[in-house]
Amino acid sequence: MDEMELTIQSNGMDGEGVARYNGKVYFVDGAILGEVVVAREVKSNKNFSRAELIRVVKKSNDRCEPKCKYYGVCGGCNLQHIKYEEQLKIKKDNIQNLIKKSGLGANVNDVFASEKCFGYRNKVKLFVGNSNELGFNKRNSNEVITINRCELVDENFNKIIEKIGFFIKNNAKFSHFYVKCVVIRVIDNVYTITLMLNKRINFDEFEAYLKMNKINYSLSYCLTKENDIPLYPACFVGGISDVMLNEFGIKYPVFPLAFLQVNNYIKNKVYEMIVDGIEKDEIVVDAYSGSGLLSAIIAQKAKWVYAVEIEKSSVDACVELCKRNNISNLTAINGDCAELIPKLLGENYVDTIILDPARRGVDQRTIESIIKNKPRRVIYLSCNPATLVRDLKMVVDGAGYSIRYIQPFDMFPQTSEVETLVELELESL
Ligand SMILES: C[S@@+](CC[C@H](N)C(=O)[O-])C[C@H]1O[C@@H](n2cnc3c(N)ncnc32)[C@H](O)[C@@H]1O
Repeated sequence: MDEMELTIQSNGMDGEGVARYNGKVYFVDGAILGEVVVAREVKSNKNFSRAELIRVVKKSNDRCEPKCKYYGVCGGCNLQHIKYEEQLKIKKDNIQNLIKKSGLGANVNDVFASEKCFGYRNKVKLFVGNSNELGFNKRNSNEVITINRCELVDENFNKIIEKIGFFIKNNAKFSHFYVKCVVIRVIDNVYTITLMLNKRINFDEFEAYLKMNKINYSLSYCLTKENDIPLYPACFVGGISDVMLNEFGIKYPVFPLAFLQVNNYIKNKVYEMIVDGIEKDEIVVDAYSGSGLLSAIIAQKAKWVYAVEIEKSSVDACVELCKRNNISNLTAINGDCAELIPKLLGENYVDTIILDPARRGVDQRTIESIIKNKPRRVIYLSCNPATLVRDLKMVVDGAGYSIRYIQPFDMFPQTSEVETLVELELESL
């Protein structure tokens, strides 16, 4: 394909620069708004094409040197070439554009910045490649590239990645035939290591290695097939058996694969803002509640909280959390929101519903039950602006809510991902 000179006219949702050329729209990874670049078409679709950046002819003042040596190859980050302040502006503009297109007509607040723009993550998921080296998936591919350092976690975490990588590379029993991926989390200075295996293996040597390297660990495994989806709940192997966090005055157990937000600082800011909006004596439904930390924080203030979560181990964690903290006004319910939320809203008076779904957004039946039952307030936390705006549009148009605020939070610096908190209130209030 021929090279072409493109002027980047806007930002794409996935961190690309977007240009028009000869009647076509081109998405160019690594190009920045305002730049002139030379690129080559690599993929052509009906409505748009993808082009590969060859060189920058006119450079943006917002361009910076990526910190990571794997940047551009690894599928993890896509904004490291852009200065942090500009990353925040891009995220805000992208959400604002979606809101504008939807006709919702609300203003998006400035993105709340992360305390750290590198070294902020508390979790990584590494895959075992064909050469038995740990790594991440290559950009736009399932191929594993060897990586022994990630700039999104801190130095201590990187040392752990390197040590575990070394062990796996040098122990045939831990080869890619058996170990599919390794999930590592740091929780209050304990490294929880969960191996996703297609067959139970012996961990004695691995545990001896972790001890010899003075790693404060909690080791578990989970059986899986070819992919990284667990077939059964995780089994504890050794190390610290009771990994606990103590936050917001609540002690809670962290189970190996239960959902936890990845950026502690931003998580706390988001939770504080949600709890601030809840009044005393409210009845609250926390839909898609994960391990229930947020539900428990709200229970300290509200009259009653119903937490609904599909993953059994997360619900178990929530029940345990309630026991340990003597919380008696929280009901943790295991099941699908699509079935349970219509029931809960239909049978109980509810002041506020909190929605924090996965990327695909809220299911249709939950949306319909909100429109029908009209809880006073809807608080929606989303990691996907596209499904967020789709769902907001349905609820606002269907039930007459007004948008009180749209507050993005930079949960994931150096990537185009963004967390957004929206509060809706019934217009009659
Ligand atoms: C983004 S997490 C939110 C977790 C929690 N609010 C927190 O802050 O830790 C989304 C959660 O929704 C759960 N989930 C996904 N689909 C669901 C469904 N159909 N019904 C109930 N829970 C679901 C997932 O297991 C996950 O724990």
